[in-house]
Amino acid sequence: MKIRRLDPENYPKVSALLAQAFPGSRLEAQLVDNLHQKNRVMHEWVCLHVNSVIAYIAFTNAYEGSTVCGLHLAPLAVKPDFQRQGIGSELLRFALRQEVIADSPVFVLGNPKFYRKFGFVSCATPTCPFDQKNAHFLGLRNVTARAFVVGYEPEFTLGKR
Ligand SMILES: CC(C)(COP(=O)(O)OP(=O)(O)OC[C@H]1O[C@@H](n2cnc3c(N)ncnc32)[C@H](O)[C@@H]1OP(=O)(O)O)[C@@H](O)C(=O)NCCC(=O)NCCS
Repeated sequence: MKIRRLDPENYPKVSALLAQAFPGSRLEAQLVDNLHQKNRVMHEWVCLHVNSVIAYIAFTNAYEGSTVCGLHLAPLAVKPDFQRQGIGSELLRFALRQEVIADSPVFVLGNPKFYRKFGFVSCATPTCPFDQKNAHFLGLRNVTARAFVVGYEPEFTLGKR
């Protein structure tokens, strides 16, 4: 298994993987397709096994008003046949070590049980616009004390309507 930056030629394979990993929802695949189409700033890696993409991780900018205040981790997905074998954890650990990620606060809306293993902690502020009580919103290297609602790229909001 190799971890590589996502090459645009693999965009269709990533869409297919997201549709498989989130069964019954096209939202995640649509979100990533839309972000690519709009050329948003993204940091993306994939796990390649033989010639197929078996896992994917993406980061996009997080905003306080119009200022970038960190990165959002979303989505992380592993192909169903390869889940629960440590691949998601390995890809996440790899990504968090990369310079472009390691220098920045990272936010994630996800299962706290999973993300705490990687150093993420519950976040009092900022608050997440997609999580009423911020119960599933976590931060890594987040030291902000100001109360504000964190911003996402507009494509995230389109998916939630
Ligand atoms: C969540 C996900 C990325 C984890 O990757 P993975 O390679 O399967 O996970 P790992 O083998 O590295 O780690 C296993 C841990 O992941 C979590 N996990 C994996 N699958 C899970 C599931 N279906 N439900 C809840 N937690 C799950 C558990 O905490 C598990 O730990 P445990 O086995 O001790 O209970 C992957 O299962 C996946 O793509 N799931 C579907 C998409 C999704 O829900 N993504 C959420 C992030 S946006």
